[in-house]
Amino acid sequence: MTDFPLAPGSTIGVLGGGQLGRMLIEAASRLGFDVAVLEREADSPAGRVAAKLIVGAYDDEAALAELAAATGVVTYEFENVPAASVAWLAARGVEVAPGPKALAVAQDRFEEKTFLNAHGAPTVAFAPASTAEEAAQAVAAIGVPALMKTRREGYDGKGQRWVEHLADAAAAFAALGGVPVIVEAACDFVRELSVIAARGRDGETAVYPLAENHHEGGILRRSIAPARADQALSEQAERIAARVLGGLDYVGVIGIELFELADGRLLVNEFAPRVHNSGHWTQDGCEVDQFEQHIRAVAGWPLGPTQAIAQVEMLNLLGDEVDAWPRFAAEPETRIHLYGKRDAKPGRKMGHVNRVKPL
Ligand SMILES: Nc1ncnc2c1ncn2[C@@H]1O[C@H](COP(=O)(O)OP(=O)(O)O)[C@@H](O)[C@H]1O
Ligand SMILES: [Mg+2]
Repeated sequence: MTDFPLAPGSTIGVLGGGQLGRMLIEAASRLGFDVAVLEREADSPAGRVAAKLIVGAYDDEAALAELAAATGVVTYEFENVPAASVAWLAARGVEVAPGPKALAVAQDRFEEKTFLNAHGAPTVAFAPASTAEEAAQAVAAIGVPALMKTRREGYDGKGQRWVEHLADAAAAFAALGGVPVIVEAACDFVRELSVIAARGRDGETAVYPLAENHHEGGILRRSIAPARADQALSEQAERIAARVLGGLDYVGVIGIELFELADGRLLVNEFAPRVHNSGHWTQDGCEVDQFEQHIRAVAGWPLGPTQAIAQVEMLNLLGDEVDAWPRFAAEPETRIHLYGKRDAKPGRKMGHVNRVKPL
């Protein structure tokens, strides 16, 4: 069994080698930890800065055994880690955080929205479907326009289709691959917001100020934080975060995406059981950022302060936008975070910048 609080000098395991893992490593190393990364690719943003890199699939038992031998605590930087891998590690006494419940709920949009409503966190109306007939019934029940999403494995707007007419439901279902889907009512939101929150091993929680998020083609482009928000709105977000964290018996940082309605109510869109792109502003807008907060939580340390110390505009650098780094480097108010990806494919998240202003 692992002793908490985890002492500096210990090794923390991370499943996944992307930019979120890389920024978790930055934070962990500041606190004196080493990080062992398990990642499929030999060359990855996190793998390149990890103290130990294990190259293998997430369900490769030899690779998992090597990870388990290196560390007593494992976390992950993306939510499609196989549940069986987490169970395998847990059976060998490795503490995996966030735990299997958070992972299972977050991996399936139907389970997720069902969980949210059961815990007093409202969402749009939704219905599941596993056949073309059920898809048509679900669209008829929800009304058009409706958004059809695959239950599993969607990200950055992938795995989604708008259905404008009931007659198009079966075609949309087929276009999504004939896999189980969820049909959602269209949300007529006034803004998209998100709340980043954390829960420690002792149940302590901490909530960051809201971020206002702007997406294009399903991909986050820009966040502004702290978002303009009155006390009632902030309290609503805090209440939602507390219910979700408590309901999942959560350990770590969570990113909860919200829709703000014209009447001031918040609906939950989805949550990610990990650090979140819309929380990158905390790196330069808070004393303890979401990455350090996550490491503190999984290591059983006290959580850090979450209030803002600056106003931040976070811009994602997609594809060849990263080539503008010399311009950003010349701006005194701009902090640059690049992920070291070799190949600037269109739409690929290559880095982000935080433009910082005094509060
Ligand atoms: N029910 C909905 N009504 C209106 N817009 C939606 C709805 N669901 C998602 N969207 C839009 O699509 C974006 C991506 O959807 P989301 O469910 O967050 O999937 P992903 O996992 O790809 O982030 C959201 O940020 C929002 O802009
Ligand atoms: Mg989303």
